[in-house]
Amino acid sequence: MESKIAELKAAAADSIKAAADLKELDNLRVKFLGKKGEVTNLLRGMSQLSAEERPKIGKIVNEARADIENLIAAKNSELKAKALQNKLASEKIDVTLAGRKFQRGHLHPLTLTLNRIKEIFIQMGYSIEEGPEVETDYYNFEALNLPKNHPARDTQDSFYITEEILLRTQTSPVQARTMQKHKDNAPIRMISPGRVYRRDDFDSSHSPAFTQVEGLVIDKGITFGSLIGTLDFFCKQMFGESTKIRLRPSFFPFVEPGVEVDVSCPICHGNGGGCKVCHDSGWLEILGAGEVHPKVLEMSGYDSSKVSGFAWGCGVERIAMIKYGIDDLRYFFENDMRFLNQF
Ligand code: DAH
Repeated sequence: MESKIAELKAAAADSIKAAADLKELDNLRVKFLGKKGEVTNLLRGMSQLSAEERPKIGKIVNEARADIENLIAAKNSELKAKALQNKLASEKIDVTLAGRKFQRGHLHPLTLTLNRIKEIFIQMGYSIEEGPEVETDYYNFEALNLPKNHPARDTQDSFYITEEILLRTQTSPVQARTMQKHKDNAPIRMISPGRVYRRDDFDSSHSPAFTQVEGLVIDKGITFGSLIGTLDFFCKQMFGESTKIRLRPSFFPFVEPGVEVDVSCPICHGNGGGCKVCHDSGWLEILGAGEVHPKVLEMSGYDSSKVSGFAWGCGVERIAMIKYGIDDLRYFFENDMRFLNQF
């Protein structure tokens, strides 16, 4: 019996020593010390021993059990320490490693340009008005002195939804909408930025959807001089103090007289000399403008014998192209990070 116990102890010690992980060790604990384990078996066999032998063997078995328990406990802490070390090694982080740079976003060049335009007019006391992009034929054309079948409608090839509803081709309808919000010839000073739509091909200077800003001033005693002064100030603020403007007579049904306005080229400063931006002319067209046509005033409830006004409209992509020297309008819509990162 004593040699059996010694054998069992030795076998337990060997296998505990060889246990590779905590799971294996736990299996050994069950095998030797569990309810049906080998040490328990030995204790059961004690009933066959004589009365003198029993306490002696009992003591040896209990000692063996304690030894095995100690061995398991020691191995257990050894394996736990090893597992922790492995975990630490595999999850090691190098805190000296240089950090990854966050991609910082910024505003799109069109938004930057529009924000600047708004800033310039807000400081002159203008309000910002909005109108719908899905517009009625009445506001987009008729209220602007462009009755049905007017030939000037052809210059703005439109996306019609029904006969009376279309995607607005210009921001000018906000003129009529704003006038109708006011009563008793109340003065107006507003700009209206927004998207407009035309059935144009997508090329370096056209897009079926683009951005315009409309301007409208109505008050007593507004003259053509007010228009020139305002646009001259705007262009100097936008493109630099040395910028000059030039007016050419033009026709828009909602103004009389109407003009097209050019700015001196901010790239070559009006000198030409091989300039690719202004094609050597020294000038770039930037907007249409004029004195509000009396019919347009009357149709929206203003008395053209008491007040007068001026209006203008420009393309924001065009302004941004001139400001930043961009030669293709498609860049604004393509989301190419190489382009956008420059602003
Ligand atoms: N709406 C015109 C266009 O899209 C631009 C324009 C010209 C607006 C003259 C005006 C204006 O207010 O007076 O071509």
